[in-house]
Amino acid sequence: MTLIALGVSSSISIYKSCEIIRRFQEKDFQVQVIMTKNASRLISPLLFSALSGREAIVDPFEGQQSERIAHVALAKEVALLLVAPATANVIGKFASGVADDFLSTFYTAVNCPVLIAPAMNEAMYLHRQTQQNIRRLKGLGVRFVEPERGYLACKDTGWGRLAPPERIVDEGLRLIKKSRSLKGKTVLVTAGPTREFLDPVRFLTNRSSGKMGYELAEEAIRRGADVILVSGPSPLFPPQEAKFSQVQTAEEMEKEVSKHFTKADIIIMAAAVSDFKFAEASSKKIKKEKLGEKISIVPTPDILLKLSRKKGSKVLVGFAAETENVAENAVKKLKAKNLDMIVANNVLDERVGFESDFNQVSIILPGGRAIRSEKMTKIEISQLILDKIEEIIGKKC
Ligand SMILES: Cc1cc2nc3c(=O)[nH]c(=O)nc-3n(C[C@H](O)[C@H](O)[C@H](O)COP(=O)(O)O)c2cc1C
Repeated sequence: MTLIALGVSSSISIYKSCEIIRRFQEKDFQVQVIMTKNASRLISPLLFSALSGREAIVDPFEGQQSERIAHVALAKEVALLLVAPATANVIGKFASGVADDFLSTFYTAVNCPVLIAPAMNEAMYLHRQTQQNIRRLKGLGVRFVEPERGYLACKDTGWGRLAPPERIVDEGLRLIKKSRSLKGKTVLVTAGPTREFLDPVRFLTNRSSGKMGYELAEEAIRRGADVILVSGPSPLFPPQEAKFSQVQTAEEMEKEVSKHFTKADIIIMAAAVSDFKFAEASSKKIKKEKLGEKISIVPTPDILLKLSRKKGSKVLVGFAAETENVAENAVKKLKAKNLDMIVANNVLDERVGFESDFNQVSIILPGGRAIRSEKMTKIEISQLILDKIEEIIGKKC
C-alpha cells in the first residue's frame, strides 16, 4: 500500500484532518500522521494513531529507534507529504528552512511532492510575510490548495478557511499520479555551457550556468523517469538519482549524447553549446605576442540537427536563447531541426535567463502554437515544459 505523510499543525480546523485520513484510506492509501507539538495540545495524538492505524509522530527525540534516523527513513517511504491544516508558522518555517521539530525536519528530508493546505484567520493569511512565504515555497515547487473565503473560527468572514477535505485529497492524488507520470521513460537532458579551448588556459564559452537543465533533470526524476544528465562545466550539484556525465567541449557533448541517444525516449537539449571553436588549439600556453596570429574560429558540430535526422518517435526539445526576433528565430530553428518543441527566451532581459533562478519563456510547438510563461522560477518553468512534453507523449501514444 502506498504511504502518505500527513502533517498536522495547530489550526482550529485540525478536526478536518480526520476526514482527510479517512478519504485516503478509502482509496487504499496508508497515512502516517506527523503532528506539531502545539497540534498535540489541541487534539490528542491517540485519536490520529487510532484512526490511521500507525502511531502518530510528534517529537523527534522520543521513541526513536537508534538504528534508524526516523525522519530520513520515513522520507524515503512516502509518496506525498501533505500538510493540512498548515499554520502560518509551519509555512514560515518551511519557507526559511527552519528544521526544529519532526515535521519541519521531515520537510527538508523528503524528495516526494509536497502539498500544503493553509488554514488561518484572514489577516494572517493575507499578511505580506505569509504571502511572501507562500510565493517562496511555490517557487521551490511546493504545491498549495488555496484556502476558501467563508465564516472563520474567529467569527470573521474572509479568506483563510481550510479547503474542503475532498479538494485536498483530490489534489494529493493528482500529485501522486504526476510523480509517476514518466515512469518507464528515459529522459536525456543536456545542460550548461561548453568550453572550446585555444590553449590550456584560454577558452571560448558563454554565460549559461546550467540551472535550467539541472531543474529539468530534477523535475523528470520527480515524475519517475530515468534521467541521464550530460553537462558542461557548472557549479551545480547534479541530482543524485541521475546518471551524470561531465563534458567540456561541444565535441565531447556530441559523443556523450550519441552514446545515450538510443535508449532515450525524450531528449531535452538545454545546454548552450558553443557554435564555434578555435581552428587550432595549442597544447602549450600561447605567448601574448603570438595570440593575434593564432585566432581563427570554425563551427562546432550541430548536435541538434544530427539528432533530428535519426529521431524517429522520440520527443526532441530544443532551446533558443535569442536577443532579437525571439519568436521568429525560434520557429525557424524548430522547423530546421524537426523539433517537437522549442523553448525560447530573450537573454537580454537581465531579470531572467542566464545565471538567474528565474526565466520567462515561450514554448513553441510545431503547429506554431505558442505558450508564453510569466516570469517564474526555473523549477516552475521545468514543470511547465514537462507538462507540455507529457501532452506530446499522450498524443504520440
Ligand atoms: C485555538 C487556537 C486556534 C488556532 N488556529 C490557528 C489557525 O487556524 N491558523 C494558524 O496559522 N494559527 C492558528 N493558531 C495559532 C498557532 O497555533 C500558533 O501560531 C502556533 O505557534 C503554531 O504552532 P505549530 O505551527 O507548530 O502548530 C491557533 C491557536 C489557537 C490557540
